[in-house]
Amino acid sequence: MSIYLNNAATSWPKPHIVPQAMYDFMVNSGANLARGTAAKRDLGTMDLVLNCRELLAEFFHSYEDADPRYVTFTSNITESLNIVLKGYLKPGMKVLTSSMEHNASMRPLRRLEQKGVHITVLPCDMEGVLSLRDLDKVLKEDSFDLMIITHASNVCGTVQDISGIARLCREAGVPLVVDSAQTAGVLPIHVSDLGLAALCFTGHKGLMGPQGTGGIIWKPDFAEKVEWFIEGGTGSFSHLELQPDSMPDKFEAGTPNLPGIAGLRAALQWLVKEGPEKIHARETQLGLRFIEGVKKIPGVILAGKQTMEGRLPVFPLNFTGRDHAIVAAELVERAGIETRPGLHCAPVAHKTLGTDGMGGALRISIGYFNTEKDIDCCLETLASILSEPLKA
Ligand SMILES: Cc1ncc(COP(=O)(O)O)c(C=O)c1O
Repeated sequence: MSIYLNNAATSWPKPHIVPQAMYDFMVNSGANLARGTAAKRDLGTMDLVLNCRELLAEFFHSYEDADPRYVTFTSNITESLNIVLKGYLKPGMKVLTSSMEHNASMRPLRRLEQKGVHITVLPCDMEGVLSLRDLDKVLKEDSFDLMIITHASNVCGTVQDISGIARLCREAGVPLVVDSAQTAGVLPIHVSDLGLAALCFTGHKGLMGPQGTGGIIWKPDFAEKVEWFIEGGTGSFSHLELQPDSMPDKFEAGTPNLPGIAGLRAALQWLVKEGPEKIHARETQLGLRFIEGVKKIPGVILAGKQTMEGRLPVFPLNFTGRDHAIVAAELVERAGIETRPGLHCAPVAHKTLGTDGMGGALRISIGYFNTEKDIDCCLETLASILSEPLKA
């Protein structure tokens, strides 16, 4: 028996049409992109990739003047963030971020800092919320070249007021980049209304696609200012020994993950049909069942928000007198319950929540395919573990 409660790491299971589309691509088609003779199979691959770009541009409400060329495919959001941050920020530039970021942006930022980029990390409160008042103040006191923020925390599920943050950045003329790893596919993200410079996404979490997929939705004039990260063959402009400047080739050297793109396209089709609102409502309902239950168990310490308001169903737990990693191992052993202990690649977020001194937390993250039975089993198993006497 297995109960999967680690959806913040990657969503599982996937809708059946996702692996089916990947299998179909590999068995029945399988041609490379723009590296053939324009035979039927080559055209099929071109059609797949263009159609997936179109679906992504539509799904995230990209800019009207942005054709699908301004959708870049990457292998994951980590690559997307590296492309944007390392391609845009130059020594002497100033960047704003928050104290709830994942290492996917914090590590490139700290590397850039060593090269002379100035980083300001705005502290969030104990619930992981960035205060708009603090942001407004800092934007008025200094000038910045970029702001990068995660839409929702992978540690505690706190969702930032992205509309408010985007408004303040627009007023201050600061390009805003959003890490949507935890929200894409679950919460609406309107790239053009928000005026984002770049939306970075990963395919394998809320978007329900396969691992190894991700991307960037660009504001066209921002994309022009970003330098390419990887250079090589693009299947186009082969007479040039330099990387072409034109989109989408500029950021897509090398053969893309075509089976992954086939799976991601199927996942997007499934998402549009199912409806992200329905998915979010269901996950919130299960989250409510969990949070109400877990707060009644003696010895549980829940960090971050204490209700379901303004959050995703991602819960960081610690336990009086017990190591959370041992509890995590017990959950697997007793009932096959899969969670994730530790720091979740976000040490700065744990510092903000006050859980860094405990080595992080046991993270329970609920997904669309979980059931009430899964939640109840997890609560019962937790209660049973915690009711046992502490070992001396
Ligand atoms: C907020 C956030 N950003 C970035 C990432 C990195 O995602 P990936 O490993 O798909 O690049 C994650 C993954 O957990 C995340 O939760």
